[in-house]
Amino acid sequence: MKKRLKKIKQDLCLIAKENYRALLLAFVITGLATLTANLLYRQKPILKRGYQIEIGSDGKAVAKKVEKPIDLAELMKLADYDRGAKTFKKCASCHNIIKGEGAKVGPNLYGVVGKTRASSAGFVYSEALKAKGGSWDRDSINQFITKPKDYIPGTKMAFPGLKKPQDRADVILYLEKQK
Ligand code: HEC
Repeated sequence: MKKRLKKIKQDLCLIAKENYRALLLAFVITGLATLTANLLYRQKPILKRGYQIEIGSDGKAVAKKVEKPIDLAELMKLADYDRGAKTFKKCASCHNIIKGEGAKVGPNLYGVVGKTRASSAGFVYSEALKAKGGSWDRDSINQFITKPKDYIPGTKMAFPGLKKPQDRADVILYLEKQK
């Protein structure tokens, strides 16, 4: 009887040992699997430039346009004077550009690139534009005509802005030549 009990005890010990090993093995296997899975499917950082491919609800890949940082210098290389003159027609309802001509709704823009802001004699500027100070260069005109009210909150220039970056570069080139 005692012998039998001892045998049972030994058996139980053996089972426990086996189970312990199995458990350890299971841990090691899951650990390794998670590690490899992580290594294999680690998300690569997404470059927020140009086109980004996403999967649409229908399961098809869709190209999503991501706002590209606009390089004005690059756009200026592609700028076209004649196109600029055409686009300026949108500005011409409010701005003269020929030297000596007076103001319309807005000041005369002759020689405005490089000129001190709010310095067209006789034109009554908004306090906001006067307070901005400094002078106009390519970059600030670009920002202003993108969305005037964003660049100078409180400006009198009631113009929504030119959406297309190339249109803005063309107009800037046109403005630059009028001096
Ligand atoms: C609806 C009329 C209107 C249109 C259209 C308009 N502007 Fe103006 N613009 C103004 C007014 C008014 C001001 C004076 C703003 C102020 O005092 O805040 C102004 C000011 C400016 C100034 C600053 C001039 C200075 O002496 O400091 C620039 C540069 C300018 N406009 C460029 C443009 C360009 C380029 C376009 C076309 C893409 C354009 N504007 C379209 C009315 C207009």
